[in-house]
Amino acid sequence: MIRARLSHNENPFGFPKEILLRVAHRISEDTISRYVAAPTKELREELTKYIRETARADFLNEKWITVTPGADGGISLCMMLKPKRVVFFPPTYYFYYTLSKIHELEIYDPPLVDDLRIPDVDLKEGDMVFLPNPNNPTGHHFEIDEVLKLLKSPAMVVVDEAYFEFSWMTTVKFLRDFSNLIVLRTFSKAFAFAGQRFGYVISRPENIEKLDEKRNPYNLSSFVMELALEVLRSREIFLGRIKQIEMERRRMSEALEAIGLKPFPSQTNFLYFKIPNADDIAKKLADRGVLVRVFWNGIRVSIGKREENEFFLKTLEEVLKI
Ligand SMILES: Cc1ncc(COP(=O)(O)O)c(C=O)c1O
Repeated sequence: MIRARLSHNENPFGFPKEILLRVAHRISEDTISRYVAAPTKELREELTKYIRETARADFLNEKWITVTPGADGGISLCMMLKPKRVVFFPPTYYFYYTLSKIHELEIYDPPLVDDLRIPDVDLKEGDMVFLPNPNNPTGHHFEIDEVLKLLKSPAMVVVDEAYFEFSWMTTVKFLRDFSNLIVLRTFSKAFAFAGQRFGYVISRPENIEKLDEKRNPYNLSSFVMELALEVLRSREIFLGRIKQIEMERRRMSEALEAIGLKPFPSQTNFLYFKIPNADDIAKKLADRGVLVRVFWNGIRVSIGKREENEFFLKTLEEVLKI
């Protein structure tokens, strides 16, 4: 029996029923039965407002965004621009590898220095860098100077801000000066929306136009768009919950340190620590109902509800004693 699913960096609180019901009551039969091009006008406007507010980016308007099925949809869309080479720095988001293979792209993947800093790399015209910031699986945020160094290269730089609402640091403001920057976001994490698949892309209008040429205009369901709109209008509910996740993260991190482990500093809804025999430990945890993931010889554990986190910590201690 699964007692704690801490493997997918999902939002532990689930989606608020009252938001779902508000949308269900508001929409007409037509919303469901008709083809609706994405994004709707209201969604585009509300999203632009949210980005402008949270990035203090007054220069940005509705031409600077497009929408995708989750951030993974955004990654795929960027890859459809057919870069000569994709570049990422492991430990990184493992799905970049999967999607690059699907799109048959050449991969260049020099590792991070000490699992933390971006290595010096010779980037060329035709390269497309994918950088999760904050990073997955380590959870840490890269220094602004490191990102700027990438932006000053001839490569396209895709900054994946899937965990933006846990760090509140963004590269959106650099879009004013850098035409080679694309920012990806998602509702999956902070907004408890993973099963609904909603993400968005922010870049200069000329890049958005190129991406939109590769995008199916009906790539999102009308219901998902209505729901996403209501999420934005009710965002205070979610942002309050983030504080609770952060408090739990601090508690978990201290508890892991107390048993001699060294979790990386995290600005996300998960923690990562290196450990010998990570695969073996993860398997023993799974046998006891705790799901975590192993990446690059480390364990990544999502922050769950208090009781799930307690169960994880207790079970980990047991497993480490075996
Ligand atoms: C860095 C990063 N990018 C993208 C995603 C995918 O998110 P989505 O559910 O929006 O496709 C994840 C999910 O774990 C992630 O960690």
